[in-house]
Parts: sequence; C-alpha cells; structure tokens
Amino acid sequence: MSDTPSGPTDVIWRDGEFVPWQDATIHVMSHVVHYGSCVFEGLRCYETAAGGAIFRLREHMRRLVDSARIYRMPVAYDVDAMMEACVGTVAANGLTSCYLRPLLVRTGQDMAIVQPVNQIETFVIAWRWGTYLGKSALTDGVDVRVSSWRRPAPDTFPAMAKAGGNYLNSQLAKMEARADGYAEGIMLDSFGFVSEGSGENLFLVRDGVLYTPTVHAGILQGITRDSVIRLAGDVGLEVREQTIPREMLYVADELFFTGTAAELTPIRSVDRIPIGTGRPGPVALSLQRELLGIATGRIPDRHGWLTAVPQAAAGRARAGVGHGSAVTVGDGVVVN
Ligand SMILES: Cc1ncc(COP(=O)(O)O)c(C=O)c1O
Repeated sequence: MSDTPSGPTDVIWRDGEFVPWQDATIHVMSHVVHYGSCVFEGLRCYETAAGGAIFRLREHMRRLVDSARIYRMPVAYDVDAMMEACVGTVAANGLTSCYLRPLLVRTGQDMAIVQPVNQIETFVIAWRWGTYLGKSALTDGVDVRVSSWRRPAPDTFPAMAKAGGNYLNSQLAKMEARADGYAEGIMLDSFGFVSEGSGENLFLVRDGVLYTPTVHAGILQGITRDSVIRLAGDVGLEVREQTIPREMLYVADELFFTGTAAELTPIRSVDRIPIGTGRPGPVALSLQRELLGIATGRIPDRHGWLTAVPQAAAGRARAGVGHGSAVTVGDGVVVN
C-alpha cells in the first residue's frame, strides 16, 4: 500500500446497494453535519498470498453496533450483515488491501435541530492507505509530545464509543502536536494519568513487563490493543493494565502506539526526552513482526483473526457496477 490515501475507489456500500463513489452524498441539514452524530469503524484489509483478508472484522463490527447502542442509534444491520457488507465492498472495488470505514450517520433533518431524528443511513467505504504516522514510522519510530488537551472525563463523552463527535477532542491533540513538529500527542485523562494518543492506544515496557492504561482511563478499547495483549500472552510476556502516571512515560525502556491506522508504531521520544535507547526496542519490534505477520498471512492465523475476501466475488461485483447497476451485498462471502 502507498503511504497516502490513494483517492476515490469505485463504489460505496449504502444501505444494501453499491453506489458510485461520487453519489454517496447526504444533505447539509443532516443532523450529523451540525452535531457530529455518527458512529464508525476503521479496519484494514491486508494482502495475503491467498488474496485480501480483513483483520478482526467481527470484533470491529461488534464495536460499531456497541457504539450505536451507546448513542441510541437504531441499527438496521447486525454484526453478520455488516461483516458481509465489508467483504462485499472490498470485493466490489477489486481491492486486496485497503482501509475500511463502516459508518452510521444521523441524516434526519428537523428544524428543532439538537434533538436527533432517528433516521440513520449506513455506509461502508474502502480506500487504499499505507502507514498512518509517516513512511518510516513503523521501522524508526516517532517523536511525540504530551498533549495539553485531556481525554474527556467519565460521564461526559463515552470514550468506549467510536463516535464522530468524540473525535473533536482527538483533532485538538493531533493538530497541536503537528503544529509543534511532533507526529502525535499523548493525552492524559481527566485525572492526569496517561490515556492514549489521538487515534491510538499506548503501551510501555519497563523491566520486561508490558503496561497499558485501563479502560477507565478514557481510552477507546482498541482491537489492536487487544491483539497485542493476546500476542504478549502467547509468549509469556506479563501485561499489566493499570493507572500510569505521566512520568512513567519518560523512564520507560520502550513505548509504542497500537491502532488500526498506526498498526504498531514505536515511539522514540516524548517531549524531546529519548525513550530507552532512543530507537525502537526489541519488544515493540517483535510484537510488530508477529502482528503484521499474522495480518498479512506470513504467520499462521492461530487466533482466527482473518476474514478472507473471495477473489471471484471481486470480479462478479465489479462487472455489475461497470454496467451501471447497483450490486447487492450478497456477492461477498464471509468466511470467518
Ligand atoms: C481514539 C482511539 N484510540 C485507540 C484506537 C485504536 O483502536 P483500534 O486498535 O481498534 O483501531 C483508535 C482507532 O480506532 C482511536 O481512534
């Protein structure tokens, strides 16, 4: 995959049909445009020797449905139906590796506007995308700062929901970090303990133990985070989910981000203080090898994390779209 998003792909799944990319539009008076009322997912399809494979599709679709429930959005498609839509979207665009964005938006329009109208439209979008934090991020690591923006306090925004409005907080941290020449910002929670990056979870290594903030530190419960915890368990590496004071960042032997976009990105400095040797450490690199090895099919999928995208379906779906007709989702076969 290239390093930057590659631009439009052919079709977008919209409530059971594939529509051309440019036709997947909504009205400016839609609730979501004014109030950020959408929930979404971000997941990757990796190219394997046997074709495209979506990483932890079921878990991502479950989190999508959970996010909708938290925000009182009725869902028209269950986890299995959304999985099928994702597989179908990859296939219909003839892709073998891509980023996938399933999205539920409140498009209802009401002039008494803050009160949401429960008209929900569902989309699945796919596009080609490489590394998130820069070309050399995975191998060389990134320089980050502690953000002056904090994650929302408990009982303000539901951090467990992956919802559009929540990301205004992430944007503040990200823009501040970039303006100051850093790749990313690490946010503290409302109590001043370490939380996460603007779009990534955080791990640190000290004396051979892996630490990561708990779910009550205002984090999104990352699926890559879960994968890394399991992979650490596979090799007998102790993992402690606990409260982490800010200063523990500076004395870590290793630090790294995890996330669908960032995959597993080592951190080489925080606030210009080098972490460990100032180079990606052995624990981060070996977990990264394992994670990406499984995702790309180079290492056996012992946890059952991959859902294959059938090649034949790609051809059939593309043929339908090429003739100007909408193609229903049934073309994609969910294997896992
Ligand atoms: C705020 C935030 N934290 C953590 C993550 C990592 O989650 P995942 O590993 O499920 O992609 C993401 C990305 O979705 C995120 O946006």
